[in-house]
Amino acid sequence: MKKKMNLNIIDKKQIPQSESERQYYFMDIAKEYVSQLAAQKGSALTFHVTTFGCQMNARDSEKLVGILERIGYVETETEEADFVIYNTCTVRENANNKVYGRLGALCNYKKKNQYMLIGLCGCMMQEPAVVEKLKESYRFVDLIFGTHNIYKFAELIVTALESDSMTIDIWKDTEQIVEDLPVERKYAFKSGVNIMFGCNNFCSYCIVPYVRGRERSREPKEIIREIENLVADGVVEVMLLGQNVNSYGKNLEEPMTFAELLAEIEKIEGLERIRFMTSHPKDLSDELIEVMKHSRKICRHLHLPLQSGSSRILAAMNRRYDKEHYLALVEKLRASVPDIALTTDIIVGFPGETEEDFEETLDVVRKVRYDSAFTFIYSKRTGTPAASREDQVPEEIIKERFDRLLAEVQQIAAEKAGKLTGQVQPVLIEEINAQDDGLVTGRLSNNSVVHLPGTAELIGKIVDVRLKECRGFYYLGELEK
Ligand code: 5AD
Ligand code: SF4
Repeated sequence: MKKKMNLNIIDKKQIPQSESERQYYFMDIAKEYVSQLAAQKGSALTFHVTTFGCQMNARDSEKLVGILERIGYVETETEEADFVIYNTCTVRENANNKVYGRLGALCNYKKKNQYMLIGLCGCMMQEPAVVEKLKESYRFVDLIFGTHNIYKFAELIVTALESDSMTIDIWKDTEQIVEDLPVERKYAFKSGVNIMFGCNNFCSYCIVPYVRGRERSREPKEIIREIENLVADGVVEVMLLGQNVNSYGKNLEEPMTFAELLAEIEKIEGLERIRFMTSHPKDLSDELIEVMKHSRKICRHLHLPLQSGSSRILAAMNRRYDKEHYLALVEKLRASVPDIALTTDIIVGFPGETEEDFEETLDVVRKVRYDSAFTFIYSKRTGTPAASREDQVPEEIIKERFDRLLAEVQQIAAEKAGKLTGQVQPVLIEEINAQDDGLVTGRLSNNSVVHLPGTAELIGKIVDVRLKECRGFYYLGELEK
């Protein structure tokens, strides 16, 4: 096969011991292969990374892009590329279906392009049944790897280029955190920063602990060093990422709380804004609320997944808080940080959910009045405790509840939007407006979107903006002189 390469250039004795050096070694080998293939093809090889799912995956994709660019691939906008990678999500069934649906189109592109490689990685690949299905019915896929060995991407590319069958490398779990590999940020001025990986919570509906493994925190000094380097490179806003950031640091040799980590990050000169996600209500401490209250940099926004307002359902979900605890937490937060925007995730139709349980959810939504909420229809994930329950809620009932919830959430969000109209607020300008290139678009500390007249020079800057009016869910503003 044309893409097969084997120049015998891997010298086993030369392979470095340390994991990050080992990967740089394989990047050099991959670069040599890619340059030879480009010479054969007569043009540079292109790649496209498609990301499904959450911000963790978005950050992982930046790591994939960093390695692909380093070995000589050039990014392209379309999936008609020489290397297409799907970084997949499996949190709900429809995320899986999307991937299968799109693989057919990729197969057609591949028939026309002898250089094309197709790679699949991310959470969905951690499910054995998915890999079996791919092996059986999607033989044209070249490379499959999971969430634990993404740092081995360069080495896996070399294996895939040297092989003419499917390369599969999936690990069940890992202790390893490999630092200092290349990353290509999507935005010059803001960046996600992983502070921990995995999840130990085992909410009974959720597949994440099975596909992302056990919770492990990065060393604080590595996090600080990464952020300092990002700031030196022009970053003004970081989003600290973890499945449950509030339990950060528990498993470190020298334990440290998330609040303590935030206080350290706050000290980094040149860093202007700190965001984080996701917070689990059971672990959100008074110490953290105190740090948020006094911080100049932590943004006035908290994403606090509710999942259900019914204490009975919350217990069945293994969330380890109840309705009263959640409401008290919100009250405490608002007392300390009055202007904080609150957003949430809610699942409708968890097994056994009755009309009364659902009313409890609506009650919390009305009491908290979220600035926005992501609402999900419960999706049965094989292998999770909730999936084997016999009291699954019928689809029509779920649909009807979902529509009621959405209407409530949207009405409250619409009422809350615009509460800052007339004020002057600092805004981080992020991009030229997609519809009108005379406008730029930015975000307030509370995550609201603002459009205002401006040019590309403003991108990445934090400027004072007068919020003149609110249209739907965004503001129109102008620079305050
Ligand atoms: N069904 C529906 N929604 C789910 N989530 C996680 N697992 C499921 C599931 N099985 C939602 C939760 C979580 C968000 C990321 O996805 O609300 O907070
Ligand atoms: Fe899933 Fe619960 Fe872990 Fe969030 S905290 S990733 S919902 S198990």
